[in-house]
Amino acid sequence: MKTIDLRSDTVTLPTPAMREAMYRAEVGDDVYGEDPTVNQLEQMAAERLGKEAAVFVVSGTMGNLVALLTHCGRGDEVILGDRSHTLRFEQGGMAALGGITPWPIPNQPDGTLRLEDVAGAIRTDNAHFPRTRLVCLENTHNLCNGTPLTAEYTARVARLAHGRGLRVHLDGARIFNAAAALGTDARELVREVDSVMFCLSKGLCAPVGSLLCGDADFIAEARRARKVVGGGMRQAGILAAAGLVALEQMTERLAEDHARAKRLAEGLARIPGIAATQPQTNILYFQLTEEATKTQDEVVKGLAERGILLLGRLEGRFRAVIHYWIDDEDVERTIETMQALL
Ligand SMILES: Cc1ncc(COP(=O)(O)O)c(C=O)c1O
Repeated sequence: MKTIDLRSDTVTLPTPAMREAMYRAEVGDDVYGEDPTVNQLEQMAAERLGKEAAVFVVSGTMGNLVALLTHCGRGDEVILGDRSHTLRFEQGGMAALGGITPWPIPNQPDGTLRLEDVAGAIRTDNAHFPRTRLVCLENTHNLCNGTPLTAEYTARVARLAHGRGLRVHLDGARIFNAAAALGTDARELVREVDSVMFCLSKGLCAPVGSLLCGDADFIAEARRARKVVGGGMRQAGILAAAGLVALEQMTERLAEDHARAKRLAEGLARIPGIAATQPQTNILYFQLTEEATKTQDEVVKGLAERGILLLGRLEGRFRAVIHYWIDDEDVERTIETMQALL
């Protein structure tokens, strides 16, 4: 029986086309800038996001860290959401490795930061204070139900930040999911930000890698930051080849995942004992109500015994993520199994 793995879209395996492209990839030493496949991927990524340049990094975590190290110096401060991935799940790398302090402000349920909260968190020029350098946003917002941020909202934050001499970095790990959900081009969603990181290794199915995009000077500095955190890769074209397939073949199909996530939410919401929020993208959160006959741990264990994996214990919620390797039948089996379990 097939295991239905809904823990994350990071569990996606490379497609046969990716494996073929990896096998055939032309490679060189990328630290010397001589890997043609990496160069092609970086060019394509920059073009797809409407930025001048891009640099290939190992992971989303590294992409965000390299961005922060490039925008900020030691003692600088960053305004970001209190439920952002960068604050919660990246080991405080900005502080640990960069001497940068985070200033978390509340993420609203839709993943946004209130403009007045951003404005209120910007430091004045005073010897007691660190200098605010950067505002970070996340699109789609993982912990906030995978909600996409609109181009208009992002532009408003950017205008506020730029007007106060700050820069803006976007954690766009799932920016193509946001674009698909909003029916817009990813370029529109990142037009006003100074840098954006997106991941190839989530819903786009590539085995490894993320890209950090921005203007040419920023990316030249980011290459130095990547090197110092140990991210200079050599014949990385083997990985970039899968990334090219991801950008060419996988971004246009993400709406299918979103439709299946909605179907799963509707099916689960009909089961007594479950409250599910309607997802806008591929990430679905749900929780048990008082009617439930099982605990969260019992549900996770019971599903796992029946070949269905998802995450429990996320702020008292379950998370299920739809991706390329989940089909309609898997969605129906998950609903039926949950119904039988509860
Ligand atoms: C919103 C967001 N940003 C960054 C990351 C980090 O990506 P990686 O796991 O490649 O380090 C993740 C990972 O799930 C994420 O969801």
